[in-house]
Amino acid sequence: VAGPISVIFVGGNAGSWRIECCRTIVGESLPAAPWLALHGARDVAPEEDAAFVLRGSTGHVRYVENTEKLALAKVTPPLSRAEATLGAMIPIRKSDVWWELPQDERRAILAQRSKHITLGLDYLPAIARRLYHARELGEPFDFVTWFEYAPEHATRFEDLVGALRATEEWQYVEREVDFRLVRAAP
Ligand code: HEM
Repeated sequence: VAGPISVIFVGGNAGSWRIECCRTIVGESLPAAPWLALHGARDVAPEEDAAFVLRGSTGHVRYVENTEKLALAKVTPPLSRAEATLGAMIPIRKSDVWWELPQDERRAILAQRSKHITLGLDYLPAIARRLYHARELGEPFDFVTWFEYAPEHATRFEDLVGALRATEEWQYVEREVDFRLVRAAP
């Protein structure tokens, strides 16, 4: 298994994903941009006139237990599948109240009471996902969540997002901006 993957997400005039729509769900919005580019952290500096720049880095899981890990491993698809021409990027920040909760209580809210993991499992392997951590990098969001799927699963993806937003876990979300993306032709 490779180490952490660090990505710089740049909203601007170039990129491999076209920003189809952007909705501010809660909290402050982000400036509009037509394209989204993903750069490795060691790549050249992103364009200076970018509308926004977000950073994230993959990390170890905090809440997943062994049975869930095995269940996820069985159905988790890779990113960059040819048929997964649609994407979503959803940067999220949770409240100080969330971060002050002890680990066991956060796990209880996310997994037991909000069923985030079992709910999400139902949508695999249709949806490919990657969670980037950003809070530790001093970023304005705690996470940059990333998803890829085929057009025939777009409606189901919206169902999942809607179901998650109705959970107890989402009561702790204080900033969320929701981007829908279309992969540019190679
Ligand atoms: C596609 C199906 C999905 C699956 C299987 C899934 C699974 C998971 C799992 C296992 C974790 C816990 C990682 C850990 O232990 O640290 C997690 C965290 C997270 N997921 Fe999902 N998820 C899905 C969809 C979504 C969607 C659609 C969103 C956003 C609308 C989302 C937002 C998040 C966030 C923000 C976290 C971090 C929560 C925290 O650490 O406080 N997930 N997800």
